[in-house]
Amino acid sequence: MLSHTPTLCFCLIALSGVAQSQAAPNFPVLIGPGSAGPQTVQVVFPPPIIPVSGPTESPLLYPSSNTPFSNEIPFQLFPPPPNSEEPFRKKNRPLVMGYYSDWEASSLPPEKVDFTRFDWIDYAFAIPKNLSLTWDDPEMSPQFLQRLVDAAHRKGARVKLSIGGWSGSQQFSSAVSPENRTTFVANIVGAYNKYKVDGIDIDWEYPGHQGEGDNAVSPNDSANFLLFLQLLRSELTPQAKITAAVLPTPFFGPDGNPMNNMSDFATVLDWVTLMNYDVWGSSPNPGPNAPLSDACGNSSQPEASAKAGVRAWTAAGFPASKLVLGVPSYGYLSHSTATRLRTRQTASRTQSVKLKGDGDQIQFCDLVQQGALVRSDESNDFGPLYNGTGGFTRYWDPCSNTPFLRSNWSRQVVTYDDVESLGLKADFARKKGLCGVNMFDLRGDFDWVLTDAVRNALGL
Ligand SMILES: *[C@@H]1O[C@H](CO)[C@@H](O)[C@H](O)[C@H]1NC(C)=O
Ligand SMILES: *[C@@H]1O[C@H](CO)[C@@H](O)[C@H](O)[C@H]1NC(C)=O
Ligand SMILES: *[C@@H]1O[C@H](CO)[C@@H](O)[C@H](O)[C@H]1NC(C)=O
Ligand SMILES: *[C@@H]1O[C@H](CO)[C@@H](O)[C@H](O)[C@H]1NC(C)=O
Ligand SMILES: *[C@@H]1O[C@H](CO)[C@@H](O)[C@H](O)[C@H]1NC(C)=O
Ligand SMILES: *[C@@H]1O[C@H](CO)[C@@H](O)[C@H](O)[C@H]1NC(C)=O
Ligand SMILES: *[C@@H]1O[C@H](CO)[C@@H](O)[C@H](O)[C@H]1NC(C)=O
Repeated sequence: MLSHTPTLCFCLIALSGVAQSQAAPNFPVLIGPGSAGPQTVQVVFPPPIIPVSGPTESPLLYPSSNTPFSNEIPFQLFPPPPNSEEPFRKKNRPLVMGYYSDWEASSLPPEKVDFTRFDWIDYAFAIPKNLSLTWDDPEMSPQFLQRLVDAAHRKGARVKLSIGGWSGSQQFSSAVSPENRTTFVANIVGAYNKYKVDGIDIDWEYPGHQGEGDNAVSPNDSANFLLFLQLLRSELTPQAKITAAVLPTPFFGPDGNPMNNMSDFATVLDWVTLMNYDVWGSSPNPGPNAPLSDACGNSSQPEASAKAGVRAWTAAGFPASKLVLGVPSYGYLSHSTATRLRTRQTASRTQSVKLKGDGDQIQFCDLVQQGALVRSDESNDFGPLYNGTGGFTRYWDPCSNTPFLRSNWSRQVVTYDDVESLGLKADFARKKGLCGVNMFDLRGDFDWVLTDAVRNALGL
């Protein structure tokens, strides 16, 4: 396995308030919406973690039509595209995008991507080192990028080179500094030309805010980032797209707080992708990976949801038509029991599976392939529904509008996203007139059902 593990690709660490001050080494120990509240963790049997609506009700397997989501979003007409002359954007329709990660390239070779389903692919990641760009694997990573660009261009899809990522953001702060930014920009322009990509995606986690432990952080980060982007804009050919992957909160200013005026960034960036995932990770007290909203109004991280992200960025002067909703094709696997839950499943040991994830994360396709999810006969507007199997029961968390799986036998809980929850998120993106939806990452999908759920919800 490469040093750049998917486990650490993007992590939204608790941003503020209670959750941050109580943050565990990796993730907050408080659980997300719908929890029974903070609990002390016991050694053998952790406390109950799964919400139940009442002692006699059966689990809510699929969302009811009266979940809080239905009435919240006023219908909006899709606005005209920001620039109707954009060469790669078909008129008046949202864009479908996905990240392609080099550490998954052996499972999903570039030529196996169905580019007809995508407008844009982001190649993850080139890593800033000493003002230049380096790779996870100096030999294979650039080769996979070249193959991806060739294969995508043959099918009319476009590719951006994504720079940074969770474990590749140590040196951004110094690279965008006044003394260094000219060199850094020149090296990025060099890579743009060399690999014949169609744009550059900056995934700095995070300007003005600590991400991974050894990242440099400066109060000047966001101001320097803007100057860097403006220089990059002036040095790259005008057709090149420049985008960024961002938290649901705007960049952090010199005072350490999210900035309230992002309009200068909106001028120089074509769009930003809101990384609405990794809100809660693995723990005996798991919460949702990617909440659509804080529908129950009691999350300790209310700012970390799709709806809150769109609200925060538009309030800071970033137009909705330049926001892309980032959605996950993976979930988190937790070792956990939930003794309060009853389940109708009476699986015996031989019928049950014990899931293995990559680190704490598990891809949707692996949930299917390892036998925890099975395609059911039922479907909805977004696509076929996948139900729990192999000892796992699927539940729906109405507070985040995401599903979770639970196996009492294997004492595992999986918080994840599927056709239904991604469809709801993409439906929200469409109704808000966002630029599109971007999935992290392509390998997690199974038979493109997640991508198609997004496409269907976007009306494509
Ligand atoms: C949040 O609200 C929901 C719905 O009212 C409730 O079921 C859940 O227990 C609450 N969670 C917490 C942590 O209070
Ligand atoms: C960093 O780059 C400079 C100039 O490009 C070079 O002189 C120096 O040796 C490099 N340092 C490392 C550690 O690669
Ligand atoms: C500029 O880049 C060099 C090489 O990476 C680094 O040693 C130096 O500290 C950087 N300057 C600033 C102000 O960060
Ligand atoms: C921030 O930028 C100002 C100039 O705009 C400079 O005086 C100051 O030293 C910088 N601070 C840091 C921490 O780099
Ligand atoms: C935000 O900044 C821009 C450019 O700096 C300025 O023109 C605009 O008036 C500001 N908006 C608000 C609401 O302060
Ligand atoms: C979980 O399994 C244990 C035995 O392994 C059993 O005693 C318990 O009743 C089960 N709980 C639920 C909620 O199914
Ligand atoms: C999902 O499986 C449960 C049993 O675990 C069953 O009751 C339910 O009807 C199934 N739902 C669908 C949509 O197949």
